[in-house]
Amino acid sequence: MIILKTEEEVELIRISATLISSTLTEIAKVLKSGMTTLELDKLAAEYIADHGAIPSFLNYEGYPHNICTSVNDVVVHGMPNDKPLRDGDVISVDIGVIKNEFHGDHAYTFIIGETPKDIIDLVRITKECLYEGINYAVSDSYLTNISSAIQRHAEGNGYGVVREYVGHGLGRSMHEAPQVPNYGRRNEGIFMKENLVLAIEPMVNLGTKDIKVSKDGWTVRTADGKPSVHFEHDVCTKPGQALILSNYTSIEIAEKSNHNLNSSYY
Ligand code: MF3
Ligand code: CO
Repeated sequence: MIILKTEEEVELIRISATLISSTLTEIAKVLKSGMTTLELDKLAAEYIADHGAIPSFLNYEGYPHNICTSVNDVVVHGMPNDKPLRDGDVISVDIGVIKNEFHGDHAYTFIIGETPKDIIDLVRITKECLYEGINYAVSDSYLTNISSAIQRHAEGNGYGVVREYVGHGLGRSMHEAPQVPNYGRRNEGIFMKENLVLAIEPMVNLGTKDIKVSKDGWTVRTADGKPSVHFEHDVCTKPGQALILSNYTSIEIAEKSNHNLNSSYY
C-alpha cells in the first residue's frame, strides 16, 4: 500500500533526513586513512543519540551495527569492523534514523586519498545517476522514469546496475511501498501522486552488475571484485520538481576542506 504524506509528515521526514546529513558531515570532517569503520559507527551512534534520534539499522532484521560502511567491492550492507581504512579506499556510509516516529535513510560515498581515475569517474557518475533519477521524482508521472534515467546514465557509461537491491518508500517504516528499482522501462507501472516520499539509491558497479552475499548474511559484494558506489537521497514528489529532503551541501563542504579525502570529481 502506498502512503502519501501530509505536509507536516514530509517536514518530519525532512528533520530525520537532515539529521543524517549532519551525521555524514561529522564523518566527512574526520574521515581519513588509518581510521576504522567501527570508529565511524561509534561517532554516528553518539551524534544520533545526542540529537534525540534512534539509529534505525541497529537490530533491523538482526543487523548488529548502527550504520552500514561499504568499502571498495562491497556494494551495500557492509558491517563496521576494526580494519583500518587505507588511501585509495572508496567508502559508502549509509545511515538510517527514526525521530518523531518518522524515518530518514540516506547515504554518501567518500574517496580516501588518491585513487585511480576510473574509480573517481565511477563516484562522480553514480552521484549524477542519483540526480538524473531525482529529476523524474515528480507528481503525475511514472515511477519507472526514475529507474530508467538512472539505468541509462550508468549503463551509458559502461557500468553495471545492481538489480537485487532497490530504493523504496519511506515514512513511519524504513521500507514502504513502492520499490524504486535503478533499472526499468519508461512509462510503466506505478503512477506517482504528490507527496510520495522515496529513498532513491543507485548502486553502480565498475564492472559486472552481478553481486554475491557473504557468509555473514549481510555484506553484499560485486561478483567480480571490482568497486561499487552508492548514493542515497530522500525526496518528496511535487509538481514539476522533486523536493530533496536530505542535503549534501554541508557534507560536500566538509569533504572539500578535508585534505585526507579526494573530492576532485566535482
Ligand atoms: N539503507 C538500507 C536500505 O535502504 C538499509 C540498510 S539494511 C540494515 O535498505 F539492515 F542495515 F538496516
Ligand atoms: Co534505503
